[in-house]
Amino acid sequence: MTTDNWKEIKAACEAALPADVVAFIAKHQGTEHSESRLIAILHMVQAATGYLSKEQMNAVAQLAQIPLAKVTGVATFYHYFRLQPRGKHMINVCLGTACYVKGADKIGQRLMSDLGIQFGETTKDGLFSLESTRCLGTCGLAPVVMVDEQVHGPVAPGDVAAILNKFTKNGQ
Ligand code: FES
Repeated sequence: MTTDNWKEIKAACEAALPADVVAFIAKHQGTEHSESRLIAILHMVQAATGYLSKEQMNAVAQLAQIPLAKVTGVATFYHYFRLQPRGKHMINVCLGTACYVKGADKIGQRLMSDLGIQFGETTKDGLFSLESTRCLGTCGLAPVVMVDEQVHGPVAPGDVAAILNKFTKNGQ
């Protein structure tokens, strides 16, 4: 930001956030912002825009008068906050107990290796986002991987390439 003028900074920050978030922050102005309230604010931002951009986190910090390091610290600590836009296809690896004991971690590692990303990230081409999840309720198919709404299981690390190919071959 290139101005010291608070009015301009405030207006830019307000423009970067959904109106309900701006109103929520304003409503609680002057009271101490607890971590739980900060989490609620970040949830509202993510619900509206799908992820938390640097610009949005900075706007929250400015408007709520919270150090930016605290905002980014909370956003990166909790795995349910996304710091990048969602990919076209969402891959969820179940790390629930039944899947975990059947090697879900190895499937996660293969996915990270093949996609070149970590959990919580999106591939550079925007095609895939990778997440982990709790029990999907299909333990009989463990270990399972859900791509968009479709459950695959039981999945072995060697099946990962074929699953990804379905989406990359046709550029779907
Ligand atoms: S633990 Fe993975 S589906 Fe239940």
